Amino acid sequence: MEKIDLQTFHHIVFFTGAGMSAESGVATFRGAGGRWKEYNWQEVACQRAFDRDPERVLDFHRLRRREAIGCEPHAGHKVIAGLEAAHPGVTVVTQNIDGMHQRAGTKKIFELHGSLWRVRCPQHGVWEDRDPEFATRRCPHCGSWLRPDIIWFEDMLDDKVVAGATRAILACDLLISIGTSAVVWPAAGYPELARQNGAFCVEINPEPTEISGLYQQVIRGKAGEVLPELFEK
Ligand code: OAD
Repeated sequence: MEKIDLQTFHHIVFFTGAGMSAESGVATFRGAGGRWKEYNWQEVACQRAFDRDPERVLDFHRLRRREAIGCEPHAGHKVIAGLEAAHPGVTVVTQNIDGMHQRAGTKKIFELHGSLWRVRCPQHGVWEDRDPEFATRRCPHCGSWLRPDIIWFEDMLDDKVVAGATRAILACDLLISIGTSAVVWPAAGYPELARQNGAFCVEINPEPTEISGLYQQVIRGKAGEVLPELFEK
C-alpha cells in the first residue's frame, strides 16, 4: 500500500460512513447484514413514522443505542483521533450518528446526520441524552415526545453543520473517504466537490462504490486494518 505523508498536506478531511464502524460491530445500512434489509425506514426512521407511532420509532432507536454502547472504537478510529492531536488541519466529516469517533478522542467533527446521543423537543431545543434505555421519552418542560436529534429520511440537514462540513471539504487538500456507499445526498457529493477543488482523494472500502472512479488512490480493505498502516510515521 502506498503510504501517505500527512506533513505534505495542510487540510485533511476524513469523510466517514457506516463502514467505519463496521469492525466495531455496528451494523451498516446496505449490503450483507445491512440495517435497511431488516427494517423499513418508512416505519422507523422518518418524521411521519414518529408522528404516527413515536414509541415504535423510539424503540428502534433504543436498539441502536444499546448496540452502539456495546461496541468499542477500533484501531482505525484511534488512528484518526491521534492524527488530529498531532496535525492542526485534521477534520472529520461523518455520516455516522453512533459517536464512535468522539469516544476514540476526535474533537473536530461535523456529524452530518446528527447524533443518537441527543434528543430534540419541538419547543425546548436539543440536549444530550446518553441513556441507552431511552427511558425519558417526553420533554420534562412541556410533555412533548422527544425525538432523537438525527437526520431521518425526508428531513433537512442542519444548515450550520452542512456549512461547516462544506467549508472543510472546500478547504481540504487531502480527502480520505472511508466506509461509505456514497448514495445518500448531499454527503455523496462531497468527494467529488473535494476533487474538483484540487484535493487528493483516497477511498478505503473493501467493495467498489458508484464513485470509486473519482479517487486517485483506492484501497480495497477494511478501515481498522488499513488506517494503522496508511501513514508515514
Ligand atoms: P452504507 O451501509 O450505505 O455503506 C457502508 C459502506 O461501508 C459500504 O460501501 C461497505 O462496502 C463499506 N464497508 C463495510 N465494512 C467496511 C470496513 N470494515 N471498512 C471500510 N468500509 C467498509 O453506509 P453509509 O454510506 O454510511 O443515513 O450510508 C449513508 C447513510 O444512509 C447513513 O448515514 C444513513 C443511511 O440511511 C441516515 O440514517 C440519514
